[in-house]
Amino acid sequence: MKGLVAIGEGEPPRREIEPAAAPDEQRFDAALRPRSFDEYVGQPTVIDKLRVYVAAAKRRGEPLDHALFCGPPGLGKTSLAHLIAQELGVPLHVTSGPAIERKGDLAGILTNLGRGQILFIDEIHRLPAPVEETLYPAMEDFQLDVIFESGPAARTLKLPLERFTLVGATTRSGLLTSPLRDRFQIVERLDFYGAAELSAIVVRSARLLGIRIDEEGAREIGRRARGTPRIANRLLRRVRDFAEVSGEGSITRAAAAAALDRLEVDELGCDAMDRRLLSTIIEKFDGGPVGVDTLAASVGEEKETIEDVYEPFLLQQGLLQRTPKGRIATSRAHAHLGVQRGERSQGSLL
Ligand SMILES: Nc1ncnc2c1ncn2[C@@H]1O[C@H](COP(=O)(O)OP(=O)(O)OP(=O)(O)O)[C@@H](O)[C@H]1O
Ligand SMILES: [Mg+2]
Repeated sequence: MKGLVAIGEGEPPRREIEPAAAPDEQRFDAALRPRSFDEYVGQPTVIDKLRVYVAAAKRRGEPLDHALFCGPPGLGKTSLAHLIAQELGVPLHVTSGPAIERKGDLAGILTNLGRGQILFIDEIHRLPAPVEETLYPAMEDFQLDVIFESGPAARTLKLPLERFTLVGATTRSGLLTSPLRDRFQIVERLDFYGAAELSAIVVRSARLLGIRIDEEGAREIGRRARGTPRIANRLLRRVRDFAEVSGEGSITRAAAAAALDRLEVDELGCDAMDRRLLSTIIEKFDGGPVGVDTLAASVGEEKETIEDVYEPFLLQQGLLQRTPKGRIATSRAHAHLGVQRGERSQGSLL
């Protein structure tokens, strides 16, 4: 049963597990995760609805309906799954799409779920197709179709499951098949956060980490955090390093701004890769349109990373446009990089 982690009757587990790229960052994420709806900053419409669904489920003594959270990385999807379990007082079982390789893995996970418990599947758009199909009757009718033998003698047995709640998270809702998406009764999209919300997150994280920061310092980090709590927290740590080395005790606006400049995070919160993408479109492709494959090859980045991580923010900031013919750098992107439309930039970033 590869990929399944935290289980524990009574005490809702808080551990974060996926064996992904940066364990240090995951530990850090987990330490700063909000522990209740009250601690979750922002996304008010999503939180208001979830409060009602959780309260209603508790009052009826019934499991929560299946819920899907979509949105770019670092906006709080995993945090929501953890805090729903926390608020319901039920154990959370954590796994991810790529970790469930075979139907048997999923069967093992599902048969271990108690009534009302939550199965969290991160990156649910990456479930292998046969596994996904096994999930349909499990979600809908709380039963598993088990096939014995093969060929003409094959028989299907229906194995009953406890009524569980599936919580799925995806950065790519467009890649989800419609049969899977249709089986979630609750579907919520997380949006980028505003500067005030991010500075509140920075203040909270600073308190938890014992970092001294004033209000303006937090505001400066929040403003330049790409609308993303995880980035706000990451910048806070980096800015602290700069402030400590330069001998300043507390992070002020000036200290934050100086550190962020050195980290190449600009006034809009764009990092070096954001600017490189925009300047490549402008310099090499006359402002676009350019296909994402060509763009990926030009900047030496994975196409999926461009689509998942970089584009959503550039689109939201009005720096990039997606058209059927490809990506276009907008007038705002030209202005931001200090180039006239149709001209090449001075001090090119390429
Ligand atoms: N609304 C919030 N309030 C406070 N902190 C938040 C909020 N949302 C996210 N965070 C913080 O940001 C970090 C990243 O959040 P989380 O891991 O939930 O994002 P995610 O959407 O699951 O990202 P990914 O798509 O990469 O899995 C966490 O450490 C958490 O502390
Ligand atoms: Mg996550």
